[in-house]
Amino acid sequence: MDLVYRPRRLRRTAPIRGMVRETELSPRQLIYPMFVTEGKSVRDPIDSMPGQFRLSPDELVRECEELYSLGVGAVNLFGYSEEKDELATKSYDPKGLVQRAIRAIKAAVPEMCVQTDVALDPYTTHGHDGLVIDGEIVNDESVEVLCKMALSHAEAGADWIAPSDMMDGRVGAIRNALDVQGFSHVGILAYSAKYASCFYGPFRGALQSAPSGHKKTYQMDPANAREALREIALDLEEGADVVMIKPALTYLDVIAHAREAFDAPIAAYNVSGEYAMVVAAAEKGLIDRDLAMMEMLLSIKRAGADMILTYFAKDAAAVLRAEYGSFI
Ligand code: PBG
Repeated sequence: MDLVYRPRRLRRTAPIRGMVRETELSPRQLIYPMFVTEGKSVRDPIDSMPGQFRLSPDELVRECEELYSLGVGAVNLFGYSEEKDELATKSYDPKGLVQRAIRAIKAAVPEMCVQTDVALDPYTTHGHDGLVIDGEIVNDESVEVLCKMALSHAEAGADWIAPSDMMDGRVGAIRNALDVQGFSHVGILAYSAKYASCFYGPFRGALQSAPSGHKKTYQMDPANAREALREIALDLEEGADVVMIKPALTYLDVIAHAREAFDAPIAAYNVSGEYAMVVAAAEKGLIDRDLAMMEMLLSIKRAGADMILTYFAKDAAAVLRAEYGSFI
């Protein structure tokens, strides 16, 4: 055969494959989502997410130290609250669980980028991300509470506020509240294109936050891609520093569209259901856990995400450390 271009020539050896590799994963661009619970020395295994735990603040700090030494410099905190009410009053308590956890991490690993989830669902009896009045998930009243929650996190030392609630106008309102109170250095990682997805199921198990009804009046319809670009544009206009697409794997096309349309940093959330599928298949011996994990993360990066929130952050960092300095 007389072929000018033989693609296999560039696949012959590991060093050659390494030179033509288009996408690299780095622990620096992984963000580890973590669940905080009350107590001391608590590592409470999460049934719906094998390998993940609800950690008391002291254990959380230990984990952060380990992550940091592996090159993972960012965590995203979720509070596990048993004190739920109609108005999510625990969400903005200055001495609340997440607020204390932020302080503890900052005292031990000051450079760690501490990001905090801002949404009311872990703190409401109905499990919705906003307030419910007369059976309606109300917008502007919810945004007021979200601003209080964001401020309490900033006061505790959070680096980035991550609103995941999908209420309209909350990014601008939070930006303004932060600026007025002297927190102009605190960033906003906006869940901009967050879909009403079944892949959040295991997470809701972790926080006991399954909603009554559904979240389709505020989270996006999985059928819509163009709308995601409008949502992202809106959040950037309102002052988002980083925009997020969530989930990641069933929305890789949206990540790729967003990459073409915007210069802003893009985050993707490799959500609990995506994690649980790999773990469950690996436990059954149907798939290789580490290979599936790395291929998944690579696909998200290749689609155009700069940073990835993933429950695999620590494991992937360990694999990358082993790979670094060798050829694969
Ligand atoms: C809540 C929130 C959810 C997730 C992050 N923040 C669940 C939801 O919207 O119901 C999902 C994360 C995951 O599945 O890993 N605002």
